[in-house]
Formats: sequence, C-alpha cells, structure tokens
Amino acid sequence: MKIPFINDKQSKESIVYPEGPDHIAIIMDGNGRWAQKRGMPRIAGHKEGISTVVKIVKAAVKCKVKFLTIYTFSTENWKRPKSEVDFILKLPKEFLHTYLPDLLTNNVRIETIGNMEGIPASTREAVQYAVDRTRHNDGLQLNIALNYGGRNEILDAMKKMHADLIDAKLTLDEVNEQQLSNYLDTAGAAEPDLLIRTGGEKRLSNFLLWQLAYTEFWFTDILWPDFSEREFRQALEEFRNRKRRYGSI
Ligand code: IPE
Ligand code: IPE
Ligand code: MG
Repeated sequence: MKIPFINDKQSKESIVYPEGPDHIAIIMDGNGRWAQKRGMPRIAGHKEGISTVVKIVKAAVKCKVKFLTIYTFSTENWKRPKSEVDFILKLPKEFLHTYLPDLLTNNVRIETIGNMEGIPASTREAVQYAVDRTRHNDGLQLNIALNYGGRNEILDAMKKMHADLIDAKLTLDEVNEQQLSNYLDTAGAAEPDLLIRTGGEKRLSNFLLWQLAYTEFWFTDILWPDFSEREFRQALEEFRNRKRRYGSI
C-alpha cells in the first residue's frame, strides 16, 4: 500500500515544524532487528524502512532542510548474505517507482553518492532516471548514499586529484581542504550540520568521514522502521540548543 506522501491528514494538524539546519545526514539502522523482533525475515524490516524514508523526507521538506543524505547501503554491506544484498539493492527502484511523482510535486531533487558502478543495472537506471527527472528542482536535495563508503570516497578523490595534478589542471599549491571537498561525491553540498543514527549503535560505520568533522551527532535506540516525524522534530529541537564552537571559545 502506498502511504500518503504530503498534504495528508497530518499536515492539517497544528504541528509546529522547526526550521531545520541546511544539511541532515541519517544512518538508517535497525531494520533487521525490527523484523527479527517480530519473527519476520530481516528483509521485511528493509521494506518497512521505506515507509520511514517517505515520512522523514516529507518532514524534512516541511522543516525547509536543504540537503538530506541517507545511508542506504555501505561498501561493507556486501558482506551480508546475497539474498539480503539483492533485496536491499532493489529497494531504491521500488521507492522511486512509487514516489517519484510525489517527489517531483514537492520540488525534491535526487542525487546519489557512492559507487554506482557496483550496483545492479536496473537499480542504477531507475536512480539515474530520477536524478535526470528532478535535476531542475530547487527544493530539498535528497542524496541517496548507495554502495557508499567514506574511505573509498576519499581514496577516489585523491586519485582524481592526482590525475588533475599530472594533467596540470591543478597545482600542488592549490591543494587545500576546500579543493579536496570539491573532489568528493558531496561536492557543492554544505557539510552536514546534524547526523542522526537510529538503531542504538554509536559509530559512523564509514559514513561521510571527511564531511562530519564538525557535525552534531544525535543517537537514538529507536529502530529505523519505528522512527517517526516526532523523533525527527525532537532531534531538530535539540540541535537548535547545541552550541557549535568549531574550536573557538
Ligand atoms: C540498516 O538496517 C539498513 C542497512 C544497513 C542496509 P540493518 O539491516 O543494519 O539492521 P540491523 O542493524 O541489523 O538491525
Ligand atoms: C550502516 O549500518 C550502514 C547503513 C545504514 C546503510 P550497518 O548496520 O551496516 O552498520 P554496522 O555494521 O552495525 O556498523
Ligand atoms: Mg545495522
């Protein structure tokens, strides 16, 4: 069943949507445990997790967030059983097939980070289609991290930079932090202000290693399929009360 995307009943209620920071990154963890707790196969949790993605994208639009980066599949997730990997890698296509019209209506722009070459062709094509169709939207940018790993991203950036140095498109004097950022998959996006991780673990699992240098972290034990707009708004409220010092006093 398709769950309502936006302008549903909830939006008529008098909920106050805090203005969000520019960039929120989310490690959507806990799908497998959510399913296992219910005696269901792990893949049922991944399927259910899609509904949460829809709810949180909707909430991010309402909170006027500019970039939302969601960790969908890591470079380490290939270690899982093939049947689970295959299932997870089909979900972006299913999600976009159902929700692309709503994403278009809501001015959402789709982008990807990660190594798209490694993922199945049908998923890659569906994602590329969504990227092309939403290219001119200027609302929320939804970055889907697929076959993404922070170390791999930094290594790739260094290789591209090295090639540009050899081709004299860049000089060693020009290499600085900003330049390196420009070679990352997230080039052009503001660095995440807030990182949310659901599912109880307190680690980065190779997500956005460079970009999270000064990001505020917000962890919850709630498993991703149970995560809701309420907790999302709570995270934003708490973020607003954080004092970011960036090394200063
Ligand atoms: C997160 O949920 C989704 C992916 C990593 C693809 P998990 O599948 O890691 O769920 P848990 O952590 O095992 O419960
Ligand atoms: C991180 O979750 C990756 C995604 C959410 C896509 P994992 O479940 O893979 O992380 P670990 O293995 O617990 O560190
Ligand atoms: Mg996990």
